Amino acid sequence: MSQNLSGNLSRTPLADPVTPIPEAKPRPLPWIKKSVSITATEIQLLAHYIHSLCGINIEPSKAYLLETRLGKLLETENCDSFTALYYKAKSDPDKRLEKQIIDAITTNETLFFRDGSPFELLKHKIIPEVIDLRTATVKSGAPAIRIWSAACSTGQEIFSIAIILKELLGSTNTFNISLIGTDISDAAIKQASYGAYNKFEIERGLARERLLRYFSAVGESWKINDEIRSMATFKKFNLMGSFAGVGKFDIIFCRNVAIYFTLEDRMRLFDKMANCLEEDGYLIIGATESLTGVCPRFIPKRHLKSIFYQLR
Ligand SMILES: C[S@@+](CC[C@H](N)C(=O)[O-])C[C@H]1O[C@@H](n2cnc3c(N)ncnc32)[C@H](O)[C@@H]1O
Repeated sequence: MSQNLSGNLSRTPLADPVTPIPEAKPRPLPWIKKSVSITATEIQLLAHYIHSLCGINIEPSKAYLLETRLGKLLETENCDSFTALYYKAKSDPDKRLEKQIIDAITTNETLFFRDGSPFELLKHKIIPEVIDLRTATVKSGAPAIRIWSAACSTGQEIFSIAIILKELLGSTNTFNISLIGTDISDAAIKQASYGAYNKFEIERGLARERLLRYFSAVGESWKINDEIRSMATFKKFNLMGSFAGVGKFDIIFCRNVAIYFTLEDRMRLFDKMANCLEEDGYLIIGATESLTGVCPRFIPKRHLKSIFYQLR
């Protein structure tokens, strides 16, 4: 019978026939990371915790998301179980780990000029209408226009709005325009504030002329020019929390975030949004979203291919 003696086996020294070979202790191989499975109790514990932090609703069928997205934190935090990670996060007074859990669990998927039509709507209908209305009613100084990208992720949405404003108005100095981008993820806000994007991010949704006109190459990335960057302000803000002090906006973009929330949380969110929209303001939600059965204070309106919402 032939044996396979290939590879390192051929160099293994022969054992002394009288000395018993000590049993080898199992040693973890440094290049093989131990994967820790999540238990049903841990799924409940973490899903409840994450919901309390940011409203993201993790159904039991999506439990793999906890394992895949929080698994890396087990290693970096030296935790041998998801329960240990949970207690470490809960007992962390400066909330460092809590922030990392939020960054890991949120889906920051976004792109420049996402879905196209909301930006056409902004350019051809909403901005001209808001400008006319605010110019007609301003008592003194430049008419103020406030725009909020709630859940702005890494900034592509708000910079797309800023580019539209720049192209429509030229020098925006004749209007007092505030563009505010908010998100719960520290990592997303950090990138948005810096305004730099890698090749993959830049290629998603941005026409070449706009890239060359509004961005400069910095090493491997492209950074938005100061003129557009300075039009926007970014802040961390949890849509599940209180909206006290948020003020009123003329235009709100709240796209592709409420899909992660329960119906009850969506109802509460859009009720709060209704409170901070000007009476004649505009709300734009994601292409696959609807407020039917969510918030009766809004009515859907159509302009060409686009749907937007206004207060009843
Ligand atoms: C899929 S991105 C959408 C980005 C952009 N609005 C768009 O449509 O392209 C969803 C964003 O919602 C943010 N988010 C999730 N829960 C949030 C919460 N409770 N408050 C604020 N932002 C939240 C995430 O961090 C993520 O950046």
